[in-house]
Amino acid sequence: MQQATRIAPSILSADFAALGDEIRAVSEAGADYIHIDVMDGHFVPNLTIGPAVVAALRPHSELPFDVHLMISPVDPYIPDFIKAGGDIITVHAEAGAHLHRTIQLIKDQGARAGLALNPATPVSAVEPLLENLDLVLVMSVNPGFGGQSFITGQLEKISRLRVLIDATGRTIDLQVDGGINTNNAAEAIAAGADVLVAGTATFTGGVEQYANNIKALRATAD
Ligand code: DX5
Ligand code: ZN
Repeated sequence: MQQATRIAPSILSADFAALGDEIRAVSEAGADYIHIDVMDGHFVPNLTIGPAVVAALRPHSELPFDVHLMISPVDPYIPDFIKAGGDIITVHAEAGAHLHRTIQLIKDQGARAGLALNPATPVSAVEPLLENLDLVLVMSVNPGFGGQSFITGQLEKISRLRVLIDATGRTIDLQVDGGINTNNAAEAIAAGADVLVAGTATFTGGVEQYANNIKALRATAD
């Protein structure tokens, strides 16, 4: 059943020269998760941070670190991201051939497991794993960069996933990631999402605006 709306600011849009201050600020501004976009320049055409930066950020927020691994191969790095303080480890359905083992690895290491679907990846990719998942992430942009436009065609995928998740009777976050703002948050929630990743929509207007930005997203969603 759809849970209360959670807001997960993506630090990709934060000031990379002051990430500790930035995640402290959004934590105090009412965020629910800290969405950490990890990119390897191979699975996606951009390169961001690794486990050492996640470990450095860990003391600056009590919130769950929602680590979105846009990397391939992914298995070799999962233990390090969990040791660094990752609470939710989300891997891409497209990143490897042995997804069941990858999800098992995350769970065996004591973290919550998420599976991300790129825009062209069908809902059917999730079905064999749903019983093992704590989160499903629907990409509403092609991964690699913040500030892109929301792909409205993904709303249909969210609705179908909502039905599948409800049928399990389990608590599984349905997260939408990319191009979320106050113009589309309501339709993402109406489609069945309950975690909104927001990079640009959170980190605009300077640190004194973060609380208002988060409040505005939550208000439009609800
Ligand atoms: C893109 C990332 C997203 C992105 C969201 O590959 O996975 O989390 O940073 O940023 P906005 O909200 O600006 O689209
Ligand atoms: Zn992301």
